[in-house]
Amino acid sequence: MRITAAITGVGAYVPEYVLTNEELEKMVDTTDEWIVTRTGIKERRLLKGENQGTSVMGIKAVQQLLDKTGTRPEEVELVICATTTPDLVFPATANIISAAVGMSQAFSYDMQAACSGFLFALATGAQFIQAGTYKKVVVIGADKMSSITDYTDRSNCIIFGDGAGAVLLEPTTDGHGLLDQVLRTDGKGEQYLYQKAGGSRRPPSIESVTNREHFMYQEGATVFKFAVTNMADVAAQVMERNHLTNADVSWLVPHQANKRIIDATANRMGVGPEKVMLNIHRYGNTTNGTIPLCLADYESQLRRGDNLILAAFGGGFTWGSIYIKWAYDPKPDPTAAS
Ligand code: UT7
Repeated sequence: MRITAAITGVGAYVPEYVLTNEELEKMVDTTDEWIVTRTGIKERRLLKGENQGTSVMGIKAVQQLLDKTGTRPEEVELVICATTTPDLVFPATANIISAAVGMSQAFSYDMQAACSGFLFALATGAQFIQAGTYKKVVVIGADKMSSITDYTDRSNCIIFGDGAGAVLLEPTTDGHGLLDQVLRTDGKGEQYLYQKAGGSRRPPSIESVTNREHFMYQEGATVFKFAVTNMADVAAQVMERNHLTNADVSWLVPHQANKRIIDATANRMGVGPEKVMLNIHRYGNTTNGTIPLCLADYESQLRRGDNLILAAFGGGFTWGSIYIKWAYDPKPDPTAAS
C-alpha cells in the first residue's frame, strides 16, 4: 500500500493591527480604488512592536495547530519553516518556534523559496512521511513582510502584509493526502524581485541603509507577467497529469499576490470563482503565509475526498502546484470557547 502524507490539521495567526487602504492613502500617493481594482486588496495585518519577529506569529499558528489536533509537542519529529523574513540570518526561525512550543524531539530548519516556499516545504515534508521515516511533520509558512517593505514605494507597500499558518502532516494509506506536485525555479528571475543588501554579497553598511537596499525590490509588471503564465501553466499541468477535469477540482488554493493573477489561473483551469479560496482582500500578500491562511479560513468548508490544487509563484523565480486529496471532514474545534 502506498504511503502518502495527509494534512491532518491547520493552524493560523494574523496580527491584530489592520493597515487599511485609507491609511495607505495618507502615507503614499494612492487611492483605495486603484488598490482594489489593480490587486483586490482592502486591508492587511501588520506585526507591530519592538523585537517582534516572524517566529512570534509562527509560534501562535503552531500552538493552535497542536491544540486543535491534540498533538503533544514532543511527538513532532520534523519542523520546516518556510520564510523569507526569518527572525535572524541564523539560526533558523524553525528552531525558535520549536523551542517555544516544546517540540524538543524534532529537528528543524528553514526553507527559502520566497512566495513558493510553503509549497516547496510541504513537498519536502511529505517526502519524509512517504518514505516511512517520520509520522508527524509540522510545516509552517510565516512572514513579517512589513520588516522588508518600503512604505515610500507605492507600487509595493500596498501589496504586502504579515501572517502565519501551519499544517500537520501524517501518513495514510487510504489514497488521501499529497498526491502529486510540479515545482520549478528559474534563477534568471533574481533581478526582478529581491532584497539587494543584507546577505553575504552585500553585507549591511551605512551606504546600503541610506540607499534603502534592505527593503524588497520588485519590478511589479514584469513579475506579474511571469506569474500569470507560470502559475496557470503548472496548475493546468498538475490537472492533466492526474486526469482531473475542472469538474473534478473542488478547490483552487492560490498564492494571494494579486487578485488578477488568481483570476487568470482559475480561468486557465476552467474553475469558477465559487471554487477559488480567496482572502487577499483581508490579508494582502503574506508571502509564505498565504496558502496555509487560506486552508485555515476555508477549513470548515472542506470535505474528505475534496480535490485541492495549490499553486504559487514568487521571487527567484520559483513556482509550483501541488495536488492534494483532502483527508478529513470538519471536526469540532477543541480550542473554541464553549
Ligand atoms: O508574490 C510574489 C510575486 N509578486 C507578485 O505576484 C506581484 C506581481 N505584480 C503586481 O501585482 C502588480 O504589478 C503591482 C500591483 C505591483 C502593480 O500593478 P500594475 O498594474 O502592474 O502597475 P504598474 O507597476 O504597471 O504601474 C501602472 C501605473 C503607473 O503609472 P504610470 O507610469 O502608468 O503613470 C504606476 O506609477 O500605476 C501607477 N501606480 C500606482 N498608482 C496608484 C503604481 N502603484 C500605484 C499605487 N497607486 N499604489
